[in-house]
Amino acid sequence: MSNRLNTTPNDLRAFWMPFTANRQFKQNPRMLVGAKDMHFTASDGRKILDGTAGLWCVNAGHCRPKITEAIAQQAGELDYAPAFQMGHPKAFELANRLVDIAPDGMNHVLFTNSGSEAVETALKVALAYHRAKGNGGRFRLIGRERGYHGVNFGGISVGGIVSNRKMFGTLLTGVDHMPHTHLPAQNAFTKGQPEHGGDIASELERIVTLHDASTIAAVIVEPVAGSTGVLIPPKGYLKMLREICTKHGILLIFDEVITGYGRLGAPFAAQHYDVMPDMITSAKGLTNGVIPMGAVFVTSEIHDAFMQGPEHLIEFFHGYTYSGNPIASAAALATLDTYREEGLLTRAADLSPYWEEQLHALRDCPHVIDIRNTGLIGAIELEPIAGEPTKRAFSAFLRAFEDGLLIRTTGDIIALSPPLIISKDQIDELFEKLRKVLGQVA
Ligand SMILES: Cc1ncc(COP(=O)(O)O)c(C=O)c1O
Repeated sequence: MSNRLNTTPNDLRAFWMPFTANRQFKQNPRMLVGAKDMHFTASDGRKILDGTAGLWCVNAGHCRPKITEAIAQQAGELDYAPAFQMGHPKAFELANRLVDIAPDGMNHVLFTNSGSEAVETALKVALAYHRAKGNGGRFRLIGRERGYHGVNFGGISVGGIVSNRKMFGTLLTGVDHMPHTHLPAQNAFTKGQPEHGGDIASELERIVTLHDASTIAAVIVEPVAGSTGVLIPPKGYLKMLREICTKHGILLIFDEVITGYGRLGAPFAAQHYDVMPDMITSAKGLTNGVIPMGAVFVTSEIHDAFMQGPEHLIEFFHGYTYSGNPIASAAALATLDTYREEGLLTRAADLSPYWEEQLHALRDCPHVIDIRNTGLIGAIELEPIAGEPTKRAFSAFLRAFEDGLLIRTTGDIIALSPPLIISKDQIDELFEKLRKVLGQVA
């Protein structure tokens, strides 16, 4: 007992915060105490315009009645059901509803509790699929530089963000990485998909030649790399990746934890870019961010490869205590209802031209060296302060928060991804505030 912290209700010391400068935060905390639709309420009562849908997840806006009511009702009706060798109706209903909005052929869903777990699940399905098909020699996993696939060991192994990897030893073996697609010299200030860099996908052929196709299980990419600072796929890039994977019998996994559920103007990026992967990982917008939940979509070809052997045996030794949890399932069903009733899975397509125009108008602001956009995603890259990378964008983040706007920064890049319910007036307000902030940061 003697070394316990002397905690009071408002003591901030015990919570070791995720992906946060803990000491800086605790000196000057930014506390959110409420939220409604497009706004948070800060602890001092200020309204904060949500420019990031929380963490790319609150696609329908905050505290939507249908979702909160569904959660309350489910909690009183069936709070938990064992996930193994048992079921409850809402998980099955949800899987069917998800298949309905997924790209054709994505007919089966595995549930997880987060995007990170969705990634681990997909990587394990890929390895086990090849083994089930008699190709157990396909053990390699290929990711991409600057990729973000969550924080678990599989995800950071195929991921390509150095600070997320370097502290954690040898990671998974048998992993290689394709180059990222960021070509600022040729593509800076491109609206939508860059013209240059599609052929970077051919680097996958080089990796296949190096390792031999017979050793490679899967390639995983974010269709739009989000967490690294928004890298839009160059024209032709995703199609070429698909062709190379198909040619060599390699599974292609799209990590759509950010792009899923309407962010680009279609339910999934696979539909938006018209490139079909073999698996899709998703989370975030699945429950509007309200309850932790992820989903992995797989094709019938993959699913059916497991459905063999004696029927009383478990086909895939994987799952979580909370896979398809009743309250999460109820939240996701209500979220899908809200998306459908308000046309939110395609709304970004209508708003995107206006968004693009207003975003790129910031080109003349101080320190701006690139602007990128797709759907309702935007990124503004700032020239780093010499010798102090990340500081300029972080100051912009702090100032924006003071001015009533939530933005997200990664390195010296400002990323924007508002809830899909944003109005044109609120888009104007967001960029007016941001213009002011950019004019003030040193
Ligand atoms: C593409 C991608 N994959 C995986 C994840 C991890 O999701 P989670 O934080 O829910 O584990 C994220 C989170 O931002 C992501 O953007």
